[in-house]
Amino acid sequence: MSNVIDILDLSVEDIDGLINVACDIIENPDKYAEKCKRKKLATLFFEPSTRTRLSFEAAMYELGGNVIGFSDSNNSSAAKGESVADTVRTVSCYADIIAMRHPKEGAPLVASMATNTPIINAGDGGHNHPTQTLADLLTIYREKGSFNNLTVGLCGDLKFGRTVHSLINALSRYAGVKFVLISPEELKLPDYVTNNVLIKNNIPYTVTTDLSEAMPQLDILYMTRVQRERFFNEQDYIRLKDSYILTPEKLISAKEDLAIMHPLPRVNEISCAVDNDKRACYFKQALYGKYMRMALILKLLEVE
Ligand code: NCD
Repeated sequence: MSNVIDILDLSVEDIDGLINVACDIIENPDKYAEKCKRKKLATLFFEPSTRTRLSFEAAMYELGGNVIGFSDSNNSSAAKGESVADTVRTVSCYADIIAMRHPKEGAPLVASMATNTPIINAGDGGHNHPTQTLADLLTIYREKGSFNNLTVGLCGDLKFGRTVHSLINALSRYAGVKFVLISPEELKLPDYVTNNVLIKNNIPYTVTTDLSEAMPQLDILYMTRVQRERFFNEQDYIRLKDSYILTPEKLISAKEDLAIMHPLPRVNEISCAVDNDKRACYFKQALYGKYMRMALILKLLEVE
């Protein structure tokens, strides 16, 4: 495995290995401080990002490596009309590993075909976001101790929310996982995910528009932002943007050990009043993303 374009590029054993390394980094950060000395990560972000780009960069610095790249494609040759393949061929002359975010679905896959330098998909359009899933998996592992037998509620924009698509793919490989898909009709999970992942693998799932009704059965509640940038029509966004707002009142019927997750950024989906609830995991989740990205960089660079 030399690229991570889809979370399924990593086997269940690979994921176990990354989790073990990430947990070891948390315990023994000094051991890792020079592992990537003289190595360079390029972050090519053709779309806005805070957590993903900065956590990749922090990850590389904490491994003793360096970072180059851009966070605004208007400042890169893409603005002059350069193709993704040519950009990546060029960046490969300067970097040992590349993390790329792009608004077009499939762009990181195209990039991976243009170079032998490892490519990590840092989010492609409304498609996939495998390294967010690594952050999500470490969060679930540390909160729940295992991935088996969990009832996972996914709430909000299941249509355009790429983190949801990757997380469903990842969790579908564990025994006893059930999904509760909570969204407005217009933002329901795309058929290609429902058919190719859930139905094909006989994964139990239910579909509802009602978060409160779903709440009591959930072990994990994964809230998501309505993805404004992927709408064709601003009026639709305005109508749908506040479909779900998690408040302390809505959590009264939830399990005591529910894990409340969100890939962030949040807009209105979770009231700030929930932040002090001991079940809120979303800022921890952002921190865990850095450790999993460190583990992934080590794996792709084949550092012992
Ligand atoms: C997510 C993304 O970019 O898809 N953000 C992130 O990487 N943590 C979720 C989002 O933007 O809503």
